[in-house]
Amino acid sequence: MRVLVTGGAGFIGSHVARAYLEAGHQVIIVDALIGGRRNRAPAGAIFHGVDIRDPGLADVFRAERPEIVSHHAAQANLRRSLDDPIADAEVNVLGTLRLLELAARHEARQFVFSSTAGALYGEPATLPVNEDDPILPISPYGFHKYLGEQYVEYYRRNRGLATVVLRYANVYGPEQDPSTEAGVIAIFTQAFLAGRAPTVFGDGTQTRDYVYVGDVAEANVRTLGRSTPAPVHIATGIEVSVNDLATRLRALTGAAVEPRHGPPVPGEVYRISLANARAERMLGWRPRIALEEGLRLTVEWFKAERSRWA
Ligand SMILES: NC(=O)c1ccc[n+]([C@@H]2O[C@H](COP(=O)([O-])OP(=O)(O)OC[C@H]3O[C@@H](n4cnc5c(N)ncnc54)[C@H](O)[C@@H]3O)[C@@H](O)[C@H]2O)c1
Repeated sequence: MRVLVTGGAGFIGSHVARAYLEAGHQVIIVDALIGGRRNRAPAGAIFHGVDIRDPGLADVFRAERPEIVSHHAAQANLRRSLDDPIADAEVNVLGTLRLLELAARHEARQFVFSSTAGALYGEPATLPVNEDDPILPISPYGFHKYLGEQYVEYYRRNRGLATVVLRYANVYGPEQDPSTEAGVIAIFTQAFLAGRAPTVFGDGTQTRDYVYVGDVAEANVRTLGRSTPAPVHIATGIEVSVNDLATRLRALTGAAVEPRHGPPVPGEVYRISLANARAERMLGWRPRIALEEGLRLTVEWFKAERSRWA
């Protein structure tokens, strides 16, 4: 299959692109390198440095005629969406709509959308959250991802696209960029390895559901040939506190410093974990890499990166 991966020079998209290549598919990457890095896009993929907001994106569809569109390009930083909701909408709503329209016009078979689970449900009443629980985003990023999902469903019903919406938990692993203020595991790992005290926002008892990026890439490959009318969590179902993460990462890195505490961040939920039974039912997917193993792989990758640059 010819798979177009948007955001393929980003953290998750690069792993997804690599997984499709390893499964024997042709991969075309579209990434405007806004936070993404050219050298993160896997060798073996065709690269187009095009912005998904640019009407010139049609030329890529004309030239490459992708059969699958795996949409991972995004303004992926929740905190930035609070400061600039319009810029977030331009990428996450209009960019997504442009891709859907091009996919339909150029007769792609399937569209896979990377949505969020962590930013959709507000402060959940019960845990773990199910995909059918009430939607109540408390950030523009959450609203815009949800709007993206609605457009995907519209194209499934009215324009003949097979679609899958994957709602990711907090994704972590090698290649995550610690400078974006979004991946707490990458940020803590880098700080501990440099002997700096990382900042825990709030008291650190807030929880998240952390899923390893290799498992996320595998879930994407499992969407091939499927069309699901309902969104699917890609998550572990396990609640992990920020304090717990800091303790584990401090031990794994051998750091001597203790984390500091800062003020809590507005727009973020306090506790969340996400049910993953639907992913097993619909995609035959379940997470394989447990947190301790995933953290170990992540720390090893950051250590190797440091020695490359030293
Ligand atoms: N990281 C997570 O924990 C997480 C959780 C839930 C959902 N997601 C979603 O997964 C997807 C990938 O996230 P990520 O963490 O890899 O983010 P990332 O920022 O590492 O990757 C996004 C990529 O998109 C590219 N991009 C941004 N704007 C673009 C534009 N206008 N045109 C073309 N390319 C553009 C960037 O250069 C970057 O390479 C996003 O849709 C994000 O919303 C991520």
